[in-house]
Amino acid sequence: MKILFVCLGNICRSPLAEGILKQKLKEKNLIAEVESAGFESYHINEPPDPRAINQAEKHGIDISKNKCCLFTTEDFDRFDVIYVMDSSNYRDVQYFSRHDEDMEKVKYLLSVIDGKNKAVPDPYYGGESGFENVFDLINEACDKIIDLIKSKKETKIEL
Ligand code: 4NP
Repeated sequence: MKILFVCLGNICRSPLAEGILKQKLKEKNLIAEVESAGFESYHINEPPDPRAINQAEKHGIDISKNKCCLFTTEDFDRFDVIYVMDSSNYRDVQYFSRHDEDMEKVKYLLSVIDGKNKAVPDPYYGGESGFENVFDLINEACDKIIDLIKSKKETKIEL
């Protein structure tokens, strides 16, 4: 199972999602490949935003080693599922897609909770509380992804 999280900058939401899911996989002894990417070139190769690093650290997760990278068309071939944070990310991913099959892999992250395509809000221009809210939303979604991975393992059914 190969999972890619995508957001605009790859310095706030998607590295948090990557760190949270990796931590849960480790805790549950499950195996999956998890990465994250973005579309903004301002922060390439930089670590996540300090506010995201702090928020993760509060929960015992170290995302400080993550390096910002860009989404590419090849990612449609490298990953089984691509989770986006909002409609703008969805449109950006769509721009890189070659055909409908590529877009079949793309889901809104929060849709794993209740099937609705709600956004994980961009916390970049807000304060610390925005990062707490984002952490909680992503954390809940990652619990659901763990359930999906477990059920896939038990039933051997493709997600
Ligand atoms: P992210 O947040 O998409 O959650 O990583 C942002 C980070 C940087 C920018 C925008 C959003 N920016 O405009 O640089």
